[in-house]
Amino acid sequence: MTKIANLDRRSLLAAGALAAAAPVMARAAAKRPNPAFPKGFLWGAATAPHQIEGNNVASDLWFVENQQPTIFAEPSGDAVNSLELWASDLDIVKSLGLTSYRFGVEWARIEPEKGMFSQAMLDHYKRIVEGCHARGLAPLVTFNHFTAPRWFSAQGGWSNPESAQLFGRYCDKVARAIGADIAMAMTLNEPNILLILKNILPPPVWDMQRQTLAAATKRLGVERFLCANVAGREDVDIIVEGQKAGHKAARAAIKAVRSDLPVGFTLSVLDDQASGKNSMRDKVRAELYGDWLEIAKGDDFIGVQNYERAVWNDKGRLPAPDGADRNWSGTEVWAPSLAGAVRYVHAATKVPVLVSEHGVGTDDDTLRARFIPAALEGLKQAIDDGVPVLGYMHWSLLDNYEWIFGYKPRFGLCSVDRTTFARTPKPSAAVLGGIAKRNSL
Ligand code: FCB
Repeated sequence: MTKIANLDRRSLLAAGALAAAAPVMARAAAKRPNPAFPKGFLWGAATAPHQIEGNNVASDLWFVENQQPTIFAEPSGDAVNSLELWASDLDIVKSLGLTSYRFGVEWARIEPEKGMFSQAMLDHYKRIVEGCHARGLAPLVTFNHFTAPRWFSAQGGWSNPESAQLFGRYCDKVARAIGADIAMAMTLNEPNILLILKNILPPPVWDMQRQTLAAATKRLGVERFLCANVAGREDVDIIVEGQKAGHKAARAAIKAVRSDLPVGFTLSVLDDQASGKNSMRDKVRAELYGDWLEIAKGDDFIGVQNYERAVWNDKGRLPAPDGADRNWSGTEVWAPSLAGAVRYVHAATKVPVLVSEHGVGTDDDTLRARFIPAALEGLKQAIDDGVPVLGYMHWSLLDNYEWIFGYKPRFGLCSVDRTTFARTPKPSAAVLGGIAKRNSL
């Protein structure tokens, strides 16, 4: 079995050095920019276990999806049955011409009861890692993508003072099982998502989330049931504090098993732009990302996840311009936002960036097909300007379960028949695959 893309600290530093030389090279090529991406650039698609595997019955979200009342539009159920179909998912990633796959391991399967670890499930994820190598794909692994075991959330989730230690113990088990063979480790997915949602969700949605958690708390007869991406507005700060300690514990646990494995977390980053005098942009940035960007300075890389931009004047967020492209929910999508987010995060942290998610939720695949090359053009320009970017993971490989919105939003490069679970690549998949195969725009 050939192991590829075992990115160690040395190759990350080399990427940084190459990037430092890039402005000079870029100037030399100013007339005809070279469309090629750096050698070894990772091209991939991203998924998350709860969104694709199905029947994640020991997880916190499965429980709240099936409560009354619930904020969830529908329960996840079978999802797209990737627990069974992971090998054909990998075949698709390979056949598209991609070189890597970002997927998550599910804590609720690996530790379905507190302290009870499932060897069979660790073996399951080990097979996926081996399946990646067998197909020449670099495995990039998320240790926690929003969902936690039900018992964890029933004990207060990230508000529990024990949470960091519990997460660290789980990460140790995962690192021992698969750490030697993966290319990058992401501890937490978007631990700033609730901070972002603070500005976006209307009060009735926060209220419904509160009621959902209250129903779960009552049903289990516990003091406080608290999830990572479903919360009351007043819970946000304590959750984020718990996750900061959680990331540090996870990083230490993973590094103790394999010190040269690149470890980081992923951050939700809008391309925040300033408009007019006294724009509140910088204040917003400090609130949404500030602490996490500080933490990332101690990591090997940071995952950037971008879907949109936000333009801020001195009073608030401005509406999208007339004629803007829009996603399924009516939010503007603007291709240059990816590069804007990446440039900002690198300038603030100085660590290499992985685009760990980027995509568009739409039923109109022609929009996705236009959006991918347009966004990558900006990303390439950022690389030419000296930003070390390790790779691009498109969200998502498959149409999947989009959390509280259920199955309505479609982000996939492939559609999925939810009865037969048959996967069908959309035309946009060939667009991304073509760029990946050429490693060039
Ligand atoms: C991100 C999540 C991912 C998916 C996309 C659309 O916030 O990390 O799981 O829901 O948004």
